Amino acid sequence: MSLIEQIDKNNVPEHVAIIMDGNGRWAKKQGKFRVFGHRAGVKAVREAVEGAAEVGVKFLTLYAFSTENWNRPKLEVEALMSLLLSSLKDELETLTKNNIKLKIIGDISKLPSKNQRELTSVVEKTKDNDRMTLILALSYSSKVEIIDSIKSIAQKVKDGIVDLSDIDESLVSNNLYTAGIPDVDLMIRTSGETRISNFLLWQIAYAELFFLDILWPDFRKKNLYESILDYQNRERRFGKTSEQL
Ligand code: IPE
Ligand code: IPE
Ligand code: MG
Repeated sequence: MSLIEQIDKNNVPEHVAIIMDGNGRWAKKQGKFRVFGHRAGVKAVREAVEGAAEVGVKFLTLYAFSTENWNRPKLEVEALMSLLLSSLKDELETLTKNNIKLKIIGDISKLPSKNQRELTSVVEKTKDNDRMTLILALSYSSKVEIIDSIKSIAQKVKDGIVDLSDIDESLVSNNLYTAGIPDVDLMIRTSGETRISNFLLWQIAYAELFFLDILWPDFRKKNLYESILDYQNRERRFGKTSEQL
């Protein structure tokens, strides 16, 4: 049986999030510039997106650029931005063909205006697609996201729209960039690093975490399916005992 056939279709993680890490090291291993690794990473993105859609994942969030990544050398940031622009143009057709909706989380006002325009356009063109939602985290910081939600809730309290006693988990969730998107079930990070790097701190409260040793450009559908199979062998107890489930 192929890997995808072994997956229980009734227990596919609804929301998968991936920290795509290791492009620089992948390039360095071959004596090449870091940007070479970023370019090779685009193929891995395609594999993750197609693989997730094929197995029935409904939400796939990819960490593409953090607010902290703005501190990288200017040339690398520029290369990443132009790679994002060309990939968006190239992938629109694939998104449309596969009935995938694009959504962005993060502060894209910091991105070059060409990128902002292209992002807005792809989001608009794919808004009615409903097989899977691909969420790109760009110029994203989970702490900033939480601060923004606190500000917007505080404003609503000040305006008398929300009462203090109305503030609960669902109100906070609905004021995050990910409003309307369920919490993460499965979170994967490549490259062997075992940290979260300011990604979806609220939304991963009860996610299953997977740390893969491979570097992002080597990621293929097979790696996604292996992670999902492992996920399906885990018992998610949410604080209860095994017997209660
Ligand atoms: C991930 O790979 C891509 C981005 C953060 C944009 P890295 O560029 O972090 O690669 P490493 O971790 O240095 O190998
Ligand atoms: C996290 O990777 C951000 C993205 C994958 C976009 P980094 O390479 O920036 O994270 P650190 O610096 O290892 O924590
Ligand atoms: Mg890295």
